[in-house]
Amino acid sequence: MNRLKLSALLILLCHLFELYCSANDTAEAFIEMVLGKIKADESYVLPIDNSKLAYVSPLQESATYDFGTFDFVIVGAGSAGTLLANRLTEIEKWKVLLLEAGGPENEFSDIPGMTVEIYSTDMNWGYLSTPQKRACRAMDQFQCTCPRGKVLGGSSTINGKMYVRGNKADYNAWEKMGNPGWSYKDVLPYFIKTENSHIDDGDPGCHGKSGLLDVNYTDQTIFTSVFLRGKEELGCRAIDYNGKSQIGVSRIQFTIKGNKAVSGGTAFIDPFLKRRNLNVTINAFVTRLIIDKDTKTALGVEFIKDGRKYEARAKKEVILSAGAINTPQILMISGIGPQEELTKIGVETLVDLPVGLSMEDHATFVGLNIRTNITLFNETMEVLLKRYLNNQRPYTASFNADAISFINVNDNKSSVPDIQQILATPPGVTPNGWRMFNGNKQVTEQSAGLPKPYNDIQIWTVLLHPKSKGSVKLKSGSPLDFPIIDYNYYSVEEDKKTMLKAIKESLKLLETDAFKSINATYVSMYKVCTDYTEGTDEYWECMVEQLTTTLYHPAGTTRMGKSSRDSVVNSKLFVHSTKRLRVVDAGVIPKILSGNINAPIYMIAEKAADEIKNYWIV
Ligand SMILES: Cc1cc2nc3c(=O)[nH]c(=O)nc-3n(C[C@H](O)[C@H](O)[C@H](O)COP(=O)(O)OP(=O)(O)OC[C@H]3O[C@@H](n4cnc5c(N)ncnc54)[C@H](O)[C@@H]3O)c2cc1C
Ligand SMILES: *[C@@H]1O[C@H](CO)[C@@H](O)[C@H](O)[C@H]1NC(C)=O
Ligand SMILES: *[C@@H]1O[C@H](CO)[C@@H](O)[C@H](O)[C@H]1NC(C)=O
Ligand SMILES: *[C@@H]1O[C@H](CO)[C@@H](O)[C@H](O)[C@H]1NC(C)=O
Ligand SMILES: *[C@@H]1O[C@H](CO)[C@@H](O)[C@H](O)[C@H]1NC(C)=O
Ligand SMILES: *[C@@H]1O[C@H](CO)[C@@H](O)[C@H](O)[C@H]1NC(C)=O
Ligand SMILES: *[C@@H]1O[C@H](CO)[C@@H](O)[C@H](O)[C@H]1NC(C)=O
Repeated sequence: MNRLKLSALLILLCHLFELYCSANDTAEAFIEMVLGKIKADESYVLPIDNSKLAYVSPLQESATYDFGTFDFVIVGAGSAGTLLANRLTEIEKWKVLLLEAGGPENEFSDIPGMTVEIYSTDMNWGYLSTPQKRACRAMDQFQCTCPRGKVLGGSSTINGKMYVRGNKADYNAWEKMGNPGWSYKDVLPYFIKTENSHIDDGDPGCHGKSGLLDVNYTDQTIFTSVFLRGKEELGCRAIDYNGKSQIGVSRIQFTIKGNKAVSGGTAFIDPFLKRRNLNVTINAFVTRLIIDKDTKTALGVEFIKDGRKYEARAKKEVILSAGAINTPQILMISGIGPQEELTKIGVETLVDLPVGLSMEDHATFVGLNIRTNITLFNETMEVLLKRYLNNQRPYTASFNADAISFINVNDNKSSVPDIQQILATPPGVTPNGWRMFNGNKQVTEQSAGLPKPYNDIQIWTVLLHPKSKGSVKLKSGSPLDFPIIDYNYYSVEEDKKTMLKAIKESLKLLETDAFKSINATYVSMYKVCTDYTEGTDEYWECMVEQLTTTLYHPAGTTRMGKSSRDSVVNSKLFVHSTKRLRVVDAGVIPKILSGNINAPIYMIAEKAADEIKNYWIV
């Protein structure tokens, strides 16, 4: 029977059994929507600057419109900005303006498993790093990507949804660095306050069950238990990594609700839009701060929306939550930054601060490909999307992330990990995945010819405490230009040695009974180190340089601390030597954490909200 007749028959059946029919129609429409979006992504061209956002209609060039006066103006509706706007509008008399450069979320961005596809849409700012000397060598022009969310929810909308808090010692170290109030015992209540955990085997006393942020597991694959058993054979314990101790192996706790992604937008904004004191204005590109130069007081911001220039004023505070890349850009354009850098680009320095320096990010090796004799998810997209609608993998999880472990490869007695292993299971890294990595022609072609995407798994290794520091600088004082992002991975040799140890640790898994039961073997998929004998240290060091990219966690570019010599904000998150200006986002992280950083950013915003309430309500 041909397809037309079949669908005519289905429609007829639909009218007879109305219920069945509408569910089926919705499924068909959903699948069509997803396939259409994926198709559109293939031809999407990432921007190379902000000219589209910063467009001002020629008729409007000399005009600046007044957007009004609010108690607080928050720049950026990302992880931090959304949570902060929610908490501040709990105070009914406070009027809060939340400005966001991007647009709304949609049904497509609600699918956790579409991370790689969402990269190639206008929900991503589209940044690339500078050419790297010791990493990103298999990437086009040696440039790694730096995806950043440009959408309600910010990077939490386009991210991997892994909910990871890091290590107790991380926060105790923050406090010791001169940040009172940030020790583990101080911050734990804020993690718990935000969370609505649905996992049933979390450590008692560690999880919130009534917050706004849903956290859950998704279903397991056959590989989940293989990885857990393999790690246990190597002496690793199964743990709740967000619980009492972090060294061990675990299923992944995701920010998801049912099969849907949970972002800052869906958790903290969407259900609260009826609050009359909350003004969420999207498609609004903030270009600079309005500052009283004599007193260094932040008065408001300038922004561009729909081809017009606006000014919005803040009676109490301007809060920058534009993220670890864009907050430094706004500060520097406005004259707050390293004098030497600002002078180079012709910006007058109002406050000399180390903005954009000592950026930290988690370098990640993605080249460990393991072939197995298990075939998984070798069905058509239609079948896999129907599974998704039934709340089943692969698309309920981002990057097909399946399980994680935290280990210390330099000191196996330490309770603080230096490496995170992430197990990624089929369908593997596709050509679209290589687009998200900015893979060069060679690796992209090799991945297109991928022999066994349904049998291969990858173990990503993540360098949790890099010694190498990167930076964010400016090309010019114009908001039109993209910032200059330098990861500077492996500039300290020790980082590469640690990564090498991590790979060897992952290879040990192949010797376990668990991995032997699926006939697991390392199979080099990318022929980028053919000058070396496979398996030697030289080979792996070459692979590390070729196939290290980012886990998308830039942090520390406006770090918190005591002194204006090596920090930008104080422990209350006020920018040093200024008034009524705070930063609340990944930039304030004084030392990067032992894990993915989204949960810690929510914690930071949660704590900042309390600081702000205590400061203004006497
Ligand atoms: C692809 C990817 C995968 C990731 N995976 C994970 C993961 O699995 N788990 C995890 O914990 N973390 C993950 N992260 C990291 C995490 O999502 C981010 O660190 C976090 O969301 C950053 O929060 P933020 O509030 O600092 O900034 P953002 O969430 O990036 O928010 C900044 C907001 O400000 C807006 N903005 C910027 N400039 C302007 C301007 N000039 N005018 C107006 N608005 C502006 C942006 O559009 C954005 O909405 C991932 C990140 C990415 C990109
Ligand atoms: C937000 O404020 C602007 C400017 O005052 C106003 O035009 C707009 O209607 C407000 N939006 C909401 C949702 O209150
Ligand atoms: C959490 O996950 C479990 C099992 O995967 C599922 O049964 C439950 O419905 C999920 N709950 C929510 C709120 O997502
Ligand atoms: C998927 O793989 C299994 C196991 O190799 C095989 O039996 C099945 O025919 C495959 N299905 C498709 C649609 O290719
Ligand atoms: C830890 O490291 C020591 C010294 O390298 C080694 O002797 C010991 O076997 C290791 N323990 C485990 C559990 O791997
Ligand atoms: C195991 O893997 C090897 C190498 O890839 C292959 O030659 C062999 O046939 C496999 N055995 C089974 C039982 O799958
Ligand atoms: C996979 O290989 C292992 C080890 O060779 C073997 O015991 C097992 O039966 C194989 N499984 C499948 C599904 O082929």
